[in-house]
Amino acid sequence: MEQYYTKAQLARRNGQDRAEIWVAYKGMIYDVTASRLWIKGMHYEHWAGQDLTEELMDAPHTEEVFSKFDVIGKLRL
Ligand code: HEM
Repeated sequence: MEQYYTKAQLARRNGQDRAEIWVAYKGMIYDVTASRLWIKGMHYEHWAGQDLTEELMDAPHTEEVFSKFDVIGKLRL
């Protein structure tokens, strides 16, 4: 069964309120808790716990960076 999460549930995984750190990209939610580049939910000027699809355009890398992370669910729009 596919797991869906609301924006409010995603927002709680911003690296501040809970141990888990999640980021949404193109409707998929990735668990980046293990990343040393997302400590406390902060990644350069970006914060976890939200949909960062648009922001990836400003990044010096492609969506390839998500390949080593698990999709833990989908964002309920
Ligand atoms: C100013 C914007 C950004 C900068 C300067 C930045 C910089 C970096 C750098 C230097 C790395 C590691 C090297 C690499 O894989 O190329 C990285 C990895 C990563 N970035 Fe970004 N990034 C930015 C925006 C974003 C955004 C908007 C997202 C999400 C949509 C994102 C998601 C990731 C992920 C998931 C990784 C992999 C982390 C890991 O492997 O532990 N980045 N970023």
